[in-house]
Amino acid sequence: MTKIAVIVGSLRADSFNKKLARNLEALAPEGTEFIYTDISTLPLYSQEIEGEYPVAAQKLKDVILGADGVLVVTPEYNRSVPGVLKNAIDWASRPTTENAFDSKPTGIVGASMSPLGTALAQAHLKTILIYLNVKLMGQPEVYLTGAHMVFDDDGVVVETAREHLKKYINALVAHVNASN
Ligand code: FNR
Repeated sequence: MTKIAVIVGSLRADSFNKKLARNLEALAPEGTEFIYTDISTLPLYSQEIEGEYPVAAQKLKDVILGADGVLVVTPEYNRSVPGVLKNAIDWASRPTTENAFDSKPTGIVGASMSPLGTALAQAHLKTILIYLNVKLMGQPEVYLTGAHMVFDDDGVVVETAREHLKKYINALVAHVNASN
C-alpha cells in the first residue's frame, strides 16, 4: 500500500482543487491510499504558541509523517499560494528539527479558472517545498485550466483531461515508491 498525504489549499466546499484531488484518487493505481489532511482548524501560525503545539497541527504532521509521500493541491491566489496553505506548511515545518516534510517524496498540482492554471502558485510552492527538503517530482506537471468548465455535476473531470491525470498519479506513486 502506498499512502499519500493530501493537502488541498482551499477551504471552499465546492473547491475545484478538492475535485482535482478526488479525481486523482479515483485514477490512482491499485494499492494507493489518499489520506486527506484537515487544514481548516489550524490556528494562524505564531512562534509564541509553537511551544504548546496545537492539536490540529500535530494531527497534520502525524498524517504527513505516517505517509509514504505527499500531494499538495493548490489554488492560485494573487499569483501565489493561498494563505491557508502557507499557514499549514509553516505549522508542519516547525520546529525546524522536526520538519514533517523532510525527505518526503512530493508532488504539486493545481486548478484555476484562468489560463494560467496555477503556474505561478506552483512555482512559489516549489521554492517553499524544496527549501523544506522534499523530494520533489519535476515531471509530469498538472496545471488544470478553465477549472469551472471541466467537472460535471458529480465532480468528475472531462474525459480529455483524464488520461493526463492518470499519467500524473501513476508517475507520482512510482516516484514515491522509488524514493522510499
Ligand atoms: C483568485 N483566483 C485566481 N486565479 C488565478 O488563476 N490566479 C490568481 O492569481 C488568482 N487570484 C485570486 C485571488 C483570490 C483572493 C481569490 C479568492 C481567487 C481565482 C481562483 O482561481 C478561483 O477562486 C478558484 O476557484 C480557487 O480554487 P478553489 O477554491 O476552487 O479550489
